[in-house]
Amino acid sequence: MAKFSYPGSVGLAPMAGITDKAFRTVCRLWGAQFFFTEMISAESVLLQLTVVERMLPSVDEKDTAVQLYGSEPRKLALAAKKIQHRASWIDLNAACPVKKVVKKNAGAALLRDLNRLGDIVKAMKDACEKPVTVKVRLGFEKNELEKIMETLIFTGVDGVEVHGRTAVQMYSGKAEWNLQLDKWNVPTAISGDLFTVEDIKKALEISKSKAAIVARGVLRKPWIFFEIQHGSEPSFEEIRDMFLFHTRMLREQEGEKSFYKLRQFVMGYTHGFANARKFREAFMKLEKFESIERAIQEFFNHFLMNAGENMSVKEDGAKA
Ligand SMILES: Cc1cc2nc3c(=O)[nH]c(=O)nc-3n(C[C@H](O)[C@H](O)[C@H](O)COP(=O)(O)O)c2cc1C
Repeated sequence: MAKFSYPGSVGLAPMAGITDKAFRTVCRLWGAQFFFTEMISAESVLLQLTVVERMLPSVDEKDTAVQLYGSEPRKLALAAKKIQHRASWIDLNAACPVKKVVKKNAGAALLRDLNRLGDIVKAMKDACEKPVTVKVRLGFEKNELEKIMETLIFTGVDGVEVHGRTAVQMYSGKAEWNLQLDKWNVPTAISGDLFTVEDIKKALEISKSKAAIVARGVLRKPWIFFEIQHGSEPSFEEIRDMFLFHTRMLREQEGEKSFYKLRQFVMGYTHGFANARKFREAFMKLEKFESIERAIQEFFNHFLMNAGENMSVKEDGAKA
């Protein structure tokens, strides 16, 4: 197998409930270079639950990792083997601090049991032909990144994404970027508090990692990848068209009942727009794709017609 490297310097981080195919496609069009699915439990893969098929990338989706979680080496290995043909590579979640996951000894709980973590990665590596990467936090209660990296490197892991917080920290405090990630002879991707293009540049420089993955920053501003690629923001028309494309894609992919998922993105798509509050409040009550599309058209068209009167550009570049 050729030596793995993350397929670019800036990717979309895994987010449960968010990084579905529609949103991955939107981020790809804005300029993200690599992608992760939402986390998928190894058990649901083995049980062949129908939800898994929808969560897996389609065969034409390039540079997209499937993220698995679980606690048993054998199950994770079997699951990885089963879905590897749909993945550019497989990622193991050893980072999720959510109680429901940790209680099952999965996610960040693996950072408390490095023997188990090592056994899982070894089993996955033996079982599948695709690269295997692991997403970690700095440790469970305290920073033990050295031990974690040593354990992973011993298994022959192909890459490690590091969220610079411990599991008990959840999202409190500031993410640590000063991690000297180049001292380990393995590709890495830095994660945590990447909200602006400047954050991404700084985190890459300070962490000495060749890649970064963005999570909440994309929700706040879905076109952050466009800004990275172009050094400027997209036009209002481009934002409107992407919001409409996202809406149509979601409907096509997940059906009429998936409209509620769009509510997670309305804040982002109207980031910095004047008078967006009323629109957002009304949007939250819409339950049909037709009315959602109409509302988006009306909001943006009204905005565009009044450009100049209502529109100004703040110092930070956000539209106000
Ligand atoms: C809504 C949401 C869902 C997430 N789901 C996952 C997940 O499924 N797997 C994972 O490894 N990390 C998950 N994360 C963590 C992110 O990938 C990322 O590491 C973390 O949010 C820190 O980056 P940020 O400060 O840029 O948000 C999730 C984060 C958010 C906000």
